[in-house]
Amino acid sequence: MKKRVFSGIRPSGDLHIGNYLGAIKQWVGLQDDHEVVFGIMDLHAITTPHDPEKFRRNTLETAMVYLAAGLDPAKTTLMVQSRVPAHAELAWILGTMTPLGELERMTQFKEKSRELGTKGGIMAGLLNYPILMAADILLYQADAVPVGEDQAQHVELARSLAERFNNRYGKAFTLPQAMLQKDTARIMALDDPPKKMSKSDENARGYILLTDSPDAIREKIKAAVTDSEKKIAFAPEEKPAISNLLVIFSEFSGRPIPELERSYAGKGYAEFKADLAEAVIAGLAPLQERFRELETDTDSVFAVLRGGSERAAAVANKTLA
Ligand code: TYM
Repeated sequence: MKKRVFSGIRPSGDLHIGNYLGAIKQWVGLQDDHEVVFGIMDLHAITTPHDPEKFRRNTLETAMVYLAAGLDPAKTTLMVQSRVPAHAELAWILGTMTPLGELERMTQFKEKSRELGTKGGIMAGLLNYPILMAADILLYQADAVPVGEDQAQHVELARSLAERFNNRYGKAFTLPQAMLQKDTARIMALDDPPKKMSKSDENARGYILLTDSPDAIREKIKAAVTDSEKKIAFAPEEKPAISNLLVIFSEFSGRPIPELERSYAGKGYAEFKADLAEAVIAGLAPLQERFRELETDTDSVFAVLRGGSERAAAVANKTLA
């Protein structure tokens, strides 16, 4: 039997290359030999401040990125979380068996509440976020959850909730496992390499959006922080900045990191960065072109989401029943 896969992204503004390399790129490779459901997690996105006017547009754009990146609606179920009420319902049930302490210990909750504490308040939804995420995963009986490293802790919680539920009530859920990409599970910020690339970063120089223009990409890469010693070598501990750039270069060019190290031996950062920028621009070009095409036919994108959400609801309701 095919393995089942579930993952999703919050439609909270533009997606960046960290989302693409850490998550979406591996999803595309999974759709041929796995049973895959990918969601637009709008109920999660409203746990942090958001613009109600832009919200529908963000959901649409996230779907357009999924399709432009190569997810094929014939092979993949693309769904919108809020269209499948079973997610919220199972989350309630799982919440009755989730110790408060486990939620308070979650790294994302600690980080986000530190950010938000100064901006007017932390809502209960932010704390309960990982319970809803567990419901997302367990409803589809997912074996594997392809995510970036920052979400692995939440997948662990989903697994332990599944175990707890199965022990108490009888086997209802498959135990899921996070699926991380070795090199790209944590793409770092360009302006501050010890930090992960994040769309909530206030400095736009920290991330490259999937929709950034070639000039914006050149500018951001030119301004990217580098390490003190000039050598272009992959050593994430000692040289986090250049190692991050090498990972990005390798992913977008398809050239292995050791080959890049050899071809830039003795060369300066300026030349390396100029070539890297062109590799990112060329790597994103097909996605950007398809994105622009979809822009002219948003009705069909909404139709994909409606159909996918219906298919997803059938699976989710069966589990919930
Ligand atoms: P979100 O929307 O923050 O991010 C979407 C995906 O992108 C990955 N990611 C990264 N990967 C590598 N380097 C980075 N700098 C980077 N930044 C983000 C994330 O790990 C994620 O895979 N809670 C989830 C959404 C969600 C979900 C789910 C995921 C809701 N329910 C069920 C899986 C299963 C989130 O906020 O992702």
